[in-house]
Amino acid sequence: MILVNLRETSLLILCSILICNFSVVRSDKYNHACGRDNSVNYTSNSLYKRNLDTAQANLISAADTNSSGFYTTSVGNGLDQVNALVYCRDDVQPDICRSCVKDSMNELRELCPSTKEADIWYDECVLRYSNASIFNNVETWPTVLISVQRNASDMDQFNKNLRELLDKLKGEATQQKFATGSASGPDFTTIYGLMQCSPDLSSTQCTRCLDGLMGNIQLCCSGKIGGRIINPSCLLRFTTNDLFYNETVADAPPPQPQPPPTSQSAPVPDDNNTRTIIIVVVVIVGIVVMLLVLVCIFKRKQKKRPATETLLNDNVEDIGSAESLQYDFGTIEVATNYFSESNKLGQGGFGAVYKGTLQNGEEIAVKRLSRGSNQGQQEFINEVLLVAKLQHRNLVRLLGFCFEGTEELLIYEFVPNASLDHFIFDSVKRSCLDWEIRYKIIGGIARGILYLHEDSRLRIIHRDLKASNVLLDAEMNPKIADFGMARLFNLDETQGITNRIVGTYGYMAPEYAMYGQFSVKSDVFSFGVLVLEILSGQKNHSFQNGENVEDLASFAWKNWREGTPANVIDPILRNSSGSIHEMIRCIHIALLCVQENVADRPTMASVVLMLNSFSHTLAVPSEPAFFMPSRIGQEVSSATDNTNSRGSNRSVNSKVNSVKYSINEASITDPYPR
Ligand SMILES: *[C@@H]1O[C@H](CO)[C@@H](O)[C@H](O)[C@H]1NC(C)=O
Ligand SMILES: *[C@@H]1O[C@H](CO)[C@@H](O)[C@H](O)[C@H]1NC(C)=O
Ligand SMILES: *[C@@H]1O[C@H](CO)[C@@H](O)[C@H](O)[C@H]1NC(C)=O
Ligand SMILES: *[C@@H]1O[C@H](CO)[C@@H](O)[C@H](O)[C@H]1NC(C)=O
Ligand SMILES: *[C@@H]1O[C@H](CO)[C@@H](O)[C@H](O)[C@H]1NC(C)=O
Repeated sequence: MILVNLRETSLLILCSILICNFSVVRSDKYNHACGRDNSVNYTSNSLYKRNLDTAQANLISAADTNSSGFYTTSVGNGLDQVNALVYCRDDVQPDICRSCVKDSMNELRELCPSTKEADIWYDECVLRYSNASIFNNVETWPTVLISVQRNASDMDQFNKNLRELLDKLKGEATQQKFATGSASGPDFTTIYGLMQCSPDLSSTQCTRCLDGLMGNIQLCCSGKIGGRIINPSCLLRFTTNDLFYNETVADAPPPQPQPPPTSQSAPVPDDNNTRTIIIVVVVIVGIVVMLLVLVCIFKRKQKKRPATETLLNDNVEDIGSAESLQYDFGTIEVATNYFSESNKLGQGGFGAVYKGTLQNGEEIAVKRLSRGSNQGQQEFINEVLLVAKLQHRNLVRLLGFCFEGTEELLIYEFVPNASLDHFIFDSVKRSCLDWEIRYKIIGGIARGILYLHEDSRLRIIHRDLKASNVLLDAEMNPKIADFGMARLFNLDETQGITNRIVGTYGYMAPEYAMYGQFSVKSDVFSFGVLVLEILSGQKNHSFQNGENVEDLASFAWKNWREGTPANVIDPILRNSSGSIHEMIRCIHIALLCVQENVADRPTMASVVLMLNSFSHTLAVPSEPAFFMPSRIGQEVSSATDNTNSRGSNRSVNSKVNSVKYSINEASITDPYPR
């Protein structure tokens, strides 16, 4: 029944996109669309696919050799012709443009694996391909509207200022296909704007396209302090106090009122002397007034937001974000019904989580931190700003933060369907997860981790990946929670050795559990365990095989070696319509991830590749860490042989051993004072 409902919802969403010709999305990082018409598909061994491969290579090599920032290619003829184009923002550096071209192409093909037509928008570039002719045309489907939730202090004034700015930018963009600029908004704010047209459009096409976008402002963004409206052919974006483009490249410096040259030339005739004096006086008065205004602005900010004040000095870009991410404590109290028990969603490793509903109806999840005082507030804010920038559809989005006295709250988007463990370990709900859904979940988790590891600017190692940290949205897409916690809790991310273990035994790689050595490969290990759990529907520790209690990886390995991998698969799946071949391939990938030798484990990038491409041959897995040859109580495996090499780790080590022999989920030692 649940599934039927899901299908209906997605159908509804699809319909509304098709009928209304636009969709409202709130993700900031990127958007994509897999073509208007789902029936225009290609298959994996078609000519179209080969042409697309060539087109991809062409674009990437064009970006490598040419720094113009706009690349097109056409490969093949007739129905199988691939037309592709990509354009970067004029103000991004060539190397960033290059990597955007590469990433966007890879990501789009992953997101839209079989549609002939697809578009993707990144902050830095836009990529499109299609079998239809896409050059020199204005394409307005889909138009995507994105807005920041916050209202401007004086919405009418803001709308007026914004309109003026956008009109001005449109004039410039028509000529250059790109324009940026700023204008003053209400209450001493600055509005920054950007407009861009696909460089192949003519001036009139560009104007028409931008007019179309501006016509939508009322729909999404009226009075909002930030927003974006995009379609495949053009885009516009604005923010308040957040300079998001590179001013030095994009803009000639804003024209300053220059004192007329006469004031500098030697004063000769008497007549001109009085004029010079007047000008000098005017200039001086102007400077004094400007200083006064600056002092006022500074005072205001100081009064309003002591927490973000020091940001003023060193990081102009973040002022806007810090303000727009900070929530009022009273608002959150009301939203969560004063942190009532009935609103409590659960207790995570870093504090309790409550559900809340803001006045505008938006649902949020509030994490009430038990952080101790090992980090200054300012440092904490800085980290929140960084982590909030990590936006991916497989990550739970951090919306903001809130302080009041000793209270520290993190505000997240609310994800409706609880966490994965509520489904896979529940004998009834488990049957809702057919193979198609489980496979989608596995793929989504992999992409989310890949983003954390490689694609985001921060390179984050999750360190506590497990079923209860994977949330499911209304369409059962997985969203990883609790990432970036090491940063927020001031555990050094760049250092590879820590004496504070964050994580859950059973999911932790041996080198991390025992020696505190973490790397992206320790996340890969946890991912492998998670995949085995999703496949088998059994918890790693309480895994039961007849009379034996052993860990899941050992069980999978043993069956793998004996040629009976199907034994690992959840009986519900074994008898379903799902592809056994795919399931066994997933077991294979999981076994590669839990290998004892860190270097043998694949990176998340290759995991994603293996999951996507069946032609990719897989390596033969070696023995997993913690492998137990047969029954409980046997020799400790090789992974723990070095027990005494680091005396201080002995207590951790003995815990690891006990995990192997205990069927209860061992929880971690609490590294933080509560
Ligand atoms: C085309 O592919 C999409 C997913 O990529 C799928 O939903 C759709 O059903 C496919 N259409 C046909 C006709 O196979
Ligand atoms: C880069 O590509 C553009 C558009 O295709 C072309 O006009 C320009 O001459 C190229 N520049 C170089 C250095 O090849
Ligand atoms: C694109 O491909 C689809 C299906 O293969 C075909 O129906 C359509 O006519 C093609 N479009 C163009 C412009 O070739
Ligand atoms: C923003 O303004 C609109 C219109 O006045 C109002 O309905 C909405 O509740 C406001 N939103 C917030 C978050 O204040
Ligand atoms: C802005 O552009 C200038 C000139 O190309 C460059 O030197 C600078 O590094 C850029 N700044 C950023 C933040 O990309």
